[in-house]
Amino acid sequence: MRETPVVPFHRGSQRFAPGEGPAPDPAGSHHERRIRSFQPRRSRVTASQEEALLKRWPDWGLDIDGRSVLDLDALFGGRPVVLEIGFGMGEATAQMAAADPDTGILAVDVHTPGQGNLLGLADRGGLDNVRVANGDAIILLREMLAPDALDGVRVYFPDPWPKKRHHKRRLIQPEFLTLVATRMRPGAVLHCATDWEPYAEQMLEVLTAHPGFENTAADGGYAPRPDFRPLTRFEGQGLDKGHRVHDLLFRRK
Ligand SMILES: C[S@@+](CC[C@H](N)C(=O)[O-])C[C@H]1O[C@@H](n2cnc3c(N)ncnc32)[C@H](O)[C@@H]1O
Repeated sequence: MRETPVVPFHRGSQRFAPGEGPAPDPAGSHHERRIRSFQPRRSRVTASQEEALLKRWPDWGLDIDGRSVLDLDALFGGRPVVLEIGFGMGEATAQMAAADPDTGILAVDVHTPGQGNLLGLADRGGLDNVRVANGDAIILLREMLAPDALDGVRVYFPDPWPKKRHHKRRLIQPEFLTLVATRMRPGAVLHCATDWEPYAEQMLEVLTAHPGFENTAADGGYAPRPDFRPLTRFEGQGLDKGHRVHDLLFRRK
């Protein structure tokens, strides 16, 4: 009789055999006593997302297991590498990858349907400069990226966590900036954008105060949206609600 293979179960999402798709909680980060910037979501993987994951995950996906430092030169064929944290469904990521094939994009999110969506877009667009990392960006930065490894970092519309008791979950905080600065080469730019005014103010305040960064905006405020940043899905929802969007571009000293 054939044995039923034991596969990890990702609640509310898709199961994948080891190596075939993203692992649920690859670094076991729920064991860490740390406040996380995301909440597990129970959205389902569609058939086309599953197909893209099965086809592309083995070559273009990686689990953030915290076990080894990534060889970015090998992963991206020697291209400069930009990290995008929280790509959501990945439409903007795919557009930026298509517009700049000489830059590698290491795109990280915890959301399986989005990972499948981005891999599908990359597959159909022939975008071999995108890699999809599954798990917590903090563990990726802390355990799996070497000092000065990154040529840029993008954080577009991070979860705003509007309630005061949730503010500690916001990603852009002094400790995060200290970690991220060590992984960026001097001169590399950290680009943040948000449609949540109080979060924009917080970003400007902590980035301005941080000794590792300097503002690229001459007046020390927000920057105009650079042409290379496409409209993102989350941004579109914010604009529909009448929100104003702010970009912040800070250079690593
Ligand atoms: C509000 S959505 C924005 C998505 C996309 N950038 C956009 O503008 O449409 C924020 C995303 O960040 C992801 N995220 C939050 N914290 C994260 C972390 N520590 N590591 C990886 N992804 C994270 C969430 O899963 C979510 O998909």
